[in-house]
Amino acid sequence: MNKKYWIERVGKYGHTGWSDQVTYMYDQSMRLHLVAKIVKKYFPNGANISLDYGCGSGDFTNLLSTFSKQTIGVDLADEIIISATKKYNEKNISFYGTDKFELKSNKYSIITAITVFQHILEDRKLIELLHNMNVNMEEDGVLIIIDSYGENIESDYMKQREFEEFLNLLEKTNFVLFETYNLYHPQFYPTKLFKKYRNNFLIKIFNRLKLINWIKKISSFLVSYDSPIIVEESITKLLVVKKQIRK
Ligand SMILES: C[S@@+](CC[C@H](N)C(=O)[O-])C[C@H]1O[C@@H](n2cnc3c(N)ncnc32)[C@H](O)[C@@H]1O
Repeated sequence: MNKKYWIERVGKYGHTGWSDQVTYMYDQSMRLHLVAKIVKKYFPNGANISLDYGCGSGDFTNLLSTFSKQTIGVDLADEIIISATKKYNEKNISFYGTDKFELKSNKYSIITAITVFQHILEDRKLIELLHNMNVNMEEDGVLIIIDSYGENIESDYMKQREFEEFLNLLEKTNFVLFETYNLYHPQFYPTKLFKKYRNNFLIKIFNRLKLINWIKKISSFLVSYDSPIIVEESITKLLVVKKQIRK
């Protein structure tokens, strides 16, 4: 387990995403917009209980809470949970460390795992987790995944599985793939607007002066004119999967 890596990251950046804050603000906003659209599509009348697994600083937990009666955010360590709780304290949100949380305590309408599975290095653990998610999801529930897939590229904190290999894990755990979206990637497939923003002189100055709130405001404005979905095949994908219902 790479708990220490994530605790250090949240201590240093205030979140567990990209170390480059300029990239992080834009990318997080792009993903939040897209996940909001997907959730609205599958649950136009709102959802019951939602789970944001590997919630980090809780942005997707907060997003799910606007569509759900109750939302739970789960992550590895108390340090990460504290950062999420400080940011979001709405009544219908609860945050837990993985050691204090049992998936089976609820049935979920929506589960999100936003760049989380690629950080679970052992296949055995990932299969166990996917299986638990599957059996604890409502029949019409959806699991929304964003991850990058590669040729089994592995480091101390990341394992980019081959896409086909990951699909096999989904099948093994009784999930059916419903939709796949190829997504832009800030380094490998940047959008035109992202490139302009990233190279903008003013943004660079704001970053140097650590005016993070300004960067956040500008990026969320620009993101409303951009889309993370691309037509080309990409290593980064959003998947919508559902439970296989056996009749
Ligand atoms: C790249 S961050 C993404 C955070 C959040 N989903 C987001 O998009 O803002 C990956 C997160 O997964 C968490 N994580 C890694 N392995 C985990 C595991 N086995 N169980 C739960 N969370 C895990 C990390 O602590 C980290 O917060």
